Amino acid sequence: MIRKTFEWALSPMGRIAVLIAALSLFSLAAFGVYQSQQPPEQPIQFTHKLHVGLGVQCLYCHPGALRGPSPGLPTISKCWGCHQQIGKTQTSPLLKPMVDAMAKGEGFTWVPVAQVPDFVHFTHRPHVAAGLNCENCHGDMTQVTIAVNPQVMNMGWCLNCHKQKAAGDEEKLTKLTDCGTCHY
Ligand code: HEC
Ligand code: HEC
Ligand code: HEC
Ligand code: HEC
Ligand code: HEC
Repeated sequence: MIRKTFEWALSPMGRIAVLIAALSLFSLAAFGVYQSQQPPEQPIQFTHKLHVGLGVQCLYCHPGALRGPSPGLPTISKCWGCHQQIGKTQTSPLLKPMVDAMAKGEGFTWVPVAQVPDFVHFTHRPHVAAGLNCENCHGDMTQVTIAVNPQVMNMGWCLNCHKQKAAGDEEKLTKLTDCGTCHY
């Protein structure tokens, strides 16, 4: 059976079939990568570029980055506090989802994009306390229109920085590269 399949795969028709199978697998994989780099469907087309450009601080909308384990994503009342004073809010089609949600007493459910799996323990606090800036890990959010999935947040990424930051300090290196520091 195996031998027969093998012979068939080497015949001209077989080669074409194998090629087609390989190509479709490849395009499926490419499509997967493309899909995960597309911005998710958000409740409203919020852009960092515009708002950070207005001078609103990161921590105004993500205060948990200093205080809690997770920076958190802002509730609609944070948006509304400012937008109810802006004339354009009532007329802009881009802001209609906000006006409608407020009228119905609903909130926004953001689709998170920057995430590590549940079996990874990550908290912002020690990182911010160690003097890292948001852009060290999230890139330049001041230029981001619709946030997409950052592909870089894998184990190698964490370990690279931990090794770099612990250079020369054996005790710290052991701690920051220990499996139990990030997994438990
Ligand atoms: C006016 C409020 C506001 C300000 C100011 C703001 N953000 Fe955000 N941020 C949001 C909202 C809303 C989302 C969720 C929607 C999205 O992903 O675009 C978000 C998402 C993010 C995400 C992706 C998280 C995820 O999982 O979706 C990162 C990272 C982030 N913000 C970092 C920053 C940084 C860094 C700054 C300062 C340079 C900043 N933000 C300023 C409102 C804000
Ligand atoms: C500090 C005040 C402030 C906060 C807080 C704020 N915005 Fe804005 N937002 C503005 C201003 C000012 C504009 C620009 C209005 C203009 O173009 O004249 C704007 C524009 C927008 C636009 C584009 C509107 C258009 O027609 O171009 C969207 C969408 C938006 N904001 C969503 C949000 C969301 C969602 C939040 C909460 C996560 C939020 N904003 C929080 C001040 C704010
Ligand atoms: C050392 C790297 C690092 C630094 C520095 C950092 N972040 Fe993050 N951030 C992450 C990682 C990793 C995640 C995913 C965490 C998770 O899945 O729980 C994340 C997630 C987020 C999210 C999504 C949170 C949510 O509740 O869904 C926001 C918003 C965010 N960061 C904002 C910030 C802001 C604002 C700063 C600066 C004050 C900052 N981050 C600094 C690595 C970092
Ligand atoms: C840009 C550099 C950088 C990146 C990226 C980074 N870290 Fe860190 N991490 C640090 C620094 C610096 C400290 C603080 C070390 C100290 O105590 O001085 C730290 C501390 C920690 C701690 C606390 C250790 C303790 O003292 O108990 C944990 C847990 C942690 N990191 C997990 C992660 C995980 C998980 C990721 C990837 C998702 C990650 N880090 C990515 C730089 C980084
Ligand atoms: C500095 C943080 C950190 C340390 C230390 C660390 N890991 Fe991880 N690990 C991660 C992150 C983040 C992921 C998630 C990777 C992703 O989403 O691609 C991960 C994923 C994994 C996975 C799942 C593999 C996969 O491809 O999904 C295994 C298994 C694992 N780690 C084992 C270990 C072992 C064993 C050690 C100790 C030698 C270790 N890790 C140390 C951060 C860490």
